[in-house]
Amino acid sequence: MFEKIIDEVLRRTDIVDIVNSYVNLRKSGANYKALCPFHNERTPSFYVSPSKQIFHCFGCGVGGNVIHFVMRIENITFFEALKILASKVNINADLYQVNSQKERELLKQKEELYKLLDECTNIFHSHLFDRKNVDAVKYLLKRGIKKDTVKKFKIGYCPDNFNLYQILSEKYDSEIINKSGIFYEKDGKYYCRFNQRIIFPIFDTLDRTIAFGGRIINSDNKAKYINSPETILFNKSKTLYALNIAKNSKEDHFIIVEGYMDTISLQQEGVQNVIGVLGTALNNEHSYTIKRYKNNVILCLDSDQAGVNAALRGAEVLYQNGINVKIMELENAKDPDEYVKKFGVDAFLLKKGNSVFVLDYKIKNLLKKYDINSSEEKIKFINGYYLEILNKLQTDIEIEEYINKLSKIIDISSDALKKQFEKMKQSQQKRVINISNNKIVTPNDDSIDNRIYNSEIYLISIYFEWANKNEQIKLLVNKDDFITNENKDIFEKLNKLLDEGIELNFPTMLSFIGNQATLSELTEISSKGLNDFESAKKAILELKNNLAELNLKKQLVALDKDTDKQKYLEIIEKIKKLKMRKEG
Ligand code: UTP
Ligand code: MN
Repeated sequence: MFEKIIDEVLRRTDIVDIVNSYVNLRKSGANYKALCPFHNERTPSFYVSPSKQIFHCFGCGVGGNVIHFVMRIENITFFEALKILASKVNINADLYQVNSQKERELLKQKEELYKLLDECTNIFHSHLFDRKNVDAVKYLLKRGIKKDTVKKFKIGYCPDNFNLYQILSEKYDSEIINKSGIFYEKDGKYYCRFNQRIIFPIFDTLDRTIAFGGRIINSDNKAKYINSPETILFNKSKTLYALNIAKNSKEDHFIIVEGYMDTISLQQEGVQNVIGVLGTALNNEHSYTIKRYKNNVILCLDSDQAGVNAALRGAEVLYQNGINVKIMELENAKDPDEYVKKFGVDAFLLKKGNSVFVLDYKIKNLLKKYDINSSEEKIKFINGYYLEILNKLQTDIEIEEYINKLSKIIDISSDALKKQFEKMKQSQQKRVINISNNKIVTPNDDSIDNRIYNSEIYLISIYFEWANKNEQIKLLVNKDDFITNENKDIFEKLNKLLDEGIELNFPTMLSFIGNQATLSELTEISSKGLNDFESAKKAILELKNNLAELNLKKQLVALDKDTDKQKYLEIIEKIKKLKMRKEG
């Protein structure tokens, strides 16, 4: 039975182990703390409680049990996350017990697609070894790619006039094939978009193929690379090439390069922590992906002006998301691939040692732009420095440090610079840091409805933390205590499970909450915690009382004082009695 599986998986999994394999947890009192992988922050507000087996972020509000964590971090459905965790503890989760029809459908499609893409990966790969396609092999050899590397990255080839659609049709519905991103439609016919191209499968962090990139081997005037379009498995702006490999590296940082060949070239030389962006600008979603694994990156983009600009923009995005960014410059080579071919990997690693923090890199670039020996240009330089460096800093220490640096560069006292900077800051709109971007919890709202809702959530939270351990508390609450249908439903559903003997402890209970805002409230409340039975009981009684009172007030608001006078007075009387009971 589905509930049993959830319960079993949760009891056999430790949330601390799982979360720790994604983010760097530090012990903090009874809990663990980390930089939240789900939003931008520079000081940790993400908590994991080993005793309660939940996580909660006080910054963005996300929270839940370990299944919710895996679901969010891997960007998969609840049931996929459950399945992954179940298999880790050798439980066979029978997924088709899943409740929601829509989710079941999507899950089924995704599973079919993974299978299909995996099969295509193997088909393309084997075609590379077909004598007919010797040109493709020659091309790879020419580019210095070794056989082991071809195997490791499952590089393949898609021959011309290849009946792939037909082969797939024997096993898969056309609906699925058309969702794979491999084919495009023209005049009712389907064509493979990768014809006569070297194939680079793109894997997710669980080593499953989610898309392909294809490179031409003879330079006619077609696009050099073609990638799969977005599909239900592939989101280009989240995906980083070779992350499935790089995430396992022991280094504390990633090296980010542009594209397939640069990544592969470095990986071939044993640089395991290199990942590639796939022809898009680095964005917030990339940052979130990166932060799941490491907090430091070194950008090593192409050395032309476009590459420098991309590095500056990318660095900005990553930095704003709380990632420490360094930039690495390569001289005498257009990209990392060419660099290692020309100078070797040791020279590359040496260069890496010289990479500079993004702010220092920016200063260097600013200095290139202005001649600070001229007073006029010096002022421009200072303004640029304020806007592009100081303005982006988030701590006083950093500001102090970079004002001192500026002082040394232009030989003006730090005090004068500080004063000037303060003035500038005041005249500017205070910069709003992008922290609440995906905040889930709505701001405090004092309306009766909102107070009712919050009290109910609070009641549910405490009740289910205690009801399985304490009969007294179990008898204290029933469905009539709830006013909103939504929470009444949640309560009834969960209570029924409890009655059926399912060991419904707190994290298990969270599995049945579909609404993220509710989840967030529950984990927040629980993180603050009521840890002994007496205070739990007291809180429950208070909440029941509050709810009764709020219910009456709600009725009162709905009444017309003149026409329903009798009823009005009755309610006032009831409220008085409640209040007396509370005080008495
Ligand atoms: P590059 O042109 O720098 O590619 O584009 P590269 O990896 O160095 O490839 P080689 O060495 O010429 O073979 C960087 C990335 O941008 C995307 C690809 O992901 C590529 O790896 N791109 C580039 C495209 O999607 N389409 C294109 O036409 C070109
Ligand atoms: Mn290249």
